[in-house]
Amino acid sequence: MDRYHLRTDDVQVSLRCTDEGKLVLSYFGAPLAVADDAFAAPACEWPPAATDFDSRALWGNYSGEFAYHLRLPDGTLGWDLRTVDVRQEGNALTARLADPRHPDIVLTLRLRLREDGVLTQDTALSNGSQGRVEILRALSAALPARAKSYHITTFRGGWAGENYLREQELLPGNTLSVGSTTGIKCAQEGTPGFIVSLGAPAQEERVCCILGALAWSGNYTLTFKHSTYGQLYLGMGHDFSHAPHMLEAGAEIALPTAVLVFSTRGKGDASRRLHRHLRRHVIPRGNETRRILLNSWEGVHFDVDEATLHAMMQKSAQLGVELFVLDDGWFGKRKDDTTSLGDWTPDAEKLPHGLPALAEHARQCGIDFGIWMEPEMVSPRSSLYEQNPALAIRLPGVQPREERHQLVLDLSNPAVQPDHMVSAVLQSAPGISYVKWDCNRKMSDTGSTYLPSAMQGNLFFDYIRNYYNGMRRLRERHPDVTFQCCSAGGGRLDLGAAAFHEEFWLSDNTDAHDRLFMQWSAIHFLPANAIGCHVTASPNLYTGRETSLKFRFDVALMGRLGLELDPRSLSEDDVAEIRERIALAKELRPIVQLGELYRLVSPYAGPECAVLYRHENEALLLCYTTEHPYTDQHTRIPLAGLNPAARYSIEELMPDSTGTRCLLHGQTIGGDHLMHTGIPIHWNRPHQSCVIRLREIAG
Ligand code: GLA
Repeated sequence: MDRYHLRTDDVQVSLRCTDEGKLVLSYFGAPLAVADDAFAAPACEWPPAATDFDSRALWGNYSGEFAYHLRLPDGTLGWDLRTVDVRQEGNALTARLADPRHPDIVLTLRLRLREDGVLTQDTALSNGSQGRVEILRALSAALPARAKSYHITTFRGGWAGENYLREQELLPGNTLSVGSTTGIKCAQEGTPGFIVSLGAPAQEERVCCILGALAWSGNYTLTFKHSTYGQLYLGMGHDFSHAPHMLEAGAEIALPTAVLVFSTRGKGDASRRLHRHLRRHVIPRGNETRRILLNSWEGVHFDVDEATLHAMMQKSAQLGVELFVLDDGWFGKRKDDTTSLGDWTPDAEKLPHGLPALAEHARQCGIDFGIWMEPEMVSPRSSLYEQNPALAIRLPGVQPREERHQLVLDLSNPAVQPDHMVSAVLQSAPGISYVKWDCNRKMSDTGSTYLPSAMQGNLFFDYIRNYYNGMRRLRERHPDVTFQCCSAGGGRLDLGAAAFHEEFWLSDNTDAHDRLFMQWSAIHFLPANAIGCHVTASPNLYTGRETSLKFRFDVALMGRLGLELDPRSLSEDDVAEIRERIALAKELRPIVQLGELYRLVSPYAGPECAVLYRHENEALLLCYTTEHPYTDQHTRIPLAGLNPAARYSIEELMPDSTGTRCLLHGQTIGGDHLMHTGIPIHWNRPHQSCVIRLREIAG
């Protein structure tokens, strides 16, 4: 029997190959003093294969779960996987498996345990046979867990209310299945990420959990099944159930990467390790701070002419903004959302001197310049569509359904290259250093004029792979440009897109109250510098809620801070306050954007919210009220993440006219005491906030 261990300080993954050639996952958990103890308990077969319905039980219990369901060239549906070979280099293991009856159809599993204890599984399926393989199901990861109880956290929502965290206990016999079938903006229904807490509801700094995410922007499924025998089966992958994928002779498919973080120290530890991994290995420039920007959308919407933009840029620069982003409305004949997607040349009426002149004006103001594009889409009222209607996704003979007056381009067709459209614009105006890449609608009428009839189902998978391929080429051609990922707000918020975008737009809903909930969810997966958080006008455009400038700024401090309003409409007082707050945000930016995150008080649990970021010898505590606090008394925010041996100076930064809220302001106190007793804050209203800097005192 061959045995394999992948190990870090936090995690051990152990596999063995049985005498019959089965590859078995024996252990995924905290590192063991004697690694081989991992094989002491009866183990499960991994991955569970299609044929294992009755004979090969998982830990002795029949489950009915399977990871792969293929129609093989001979028409049969079973796939009896045996190990062909296994190679291990350090913490990377590559195993090839095949059914002896179909040796040319090979599954390659690549497991890597990264230095932060983050396990990634990449699975590829290659068809070296002469026939076709039809993929009906192929999960990126399928694994069992065993605990007394299972508490599943998911992040679901809809437009303007994305990403709401909910935890539920999964009772024996129950299955929870979530996913998306929108094709391309799959996070609008819910991000493909989850937490399984083992034995008790999830906690930040205690309780074993598995935090997982599928690195995929397409259709997906996450399934959690609590068997009546006590086992949990977890499955995650692209959802092939609506559209089987045809693997032609000689073809290969690389399934989305599954990302799994096991922690014995709670979901706070799991998030921090995932953040470190993403910064180092996934998110472009993940270890850098981001520019403070002003985006034109909520301020002026489609009314973007040269004079307006010049004035906005000047005002932005005066506020201390570093980058001006021209949102929708600059191209074709785009006066509203009914036309011009696909015609990516500046509207000559609005912008007679084009984009280079705007970039130059920004330069003269001392700020950078960026633009909005929606390169995967086409308006039926556009030259692109009039000349090439076959480039849109549609069914033959059916009038395609429009959403926001637009259709989706068929990215499975090599003639459709959104990255080239973006490159052409970037080449025409080299001063552009930021692109907001939007994707506002889901797929419908899912037919491709390019794909052969037997492969129509491949549209879903090929679309996403080609979106990624295009992004990869684009980034290679324009290595200095930042690409934001937006999809009618947070419709595309996943670790697949994170490899190509520095940051995400979380929601079109910019109400600071609602944002606290969405930001709290997003930071379970993404580090602060990958989250766009904008200060917008009050009352809020979407909800009508009024909040103070301080509250809106303090909420936006949780990520990459920006503004999204018309700076021409600001009062002198507002300008003065914004200048000061932006200067402060710049000072605090390294702590938040490069720091380690400690979630302290969840807005989902009561009327407060608090997070702490620690960077080098400083920490920043951000606290908020969402509702009216229960009493008009002092609350104590529990602290974590400080150095217990250090002494900290405590400074509340930029309180509003009602005075300081932190009762320890100006004092110096030990980290141990602060973590034992918390920081007392005095609240008396909803939507108050308090920003506290804690600095280690030398010596
Ligand atoms: C989407 C985005 C917005 C804005 C508009 C422009 O809705 O989420 O931020 O860019 O498109 O049309």
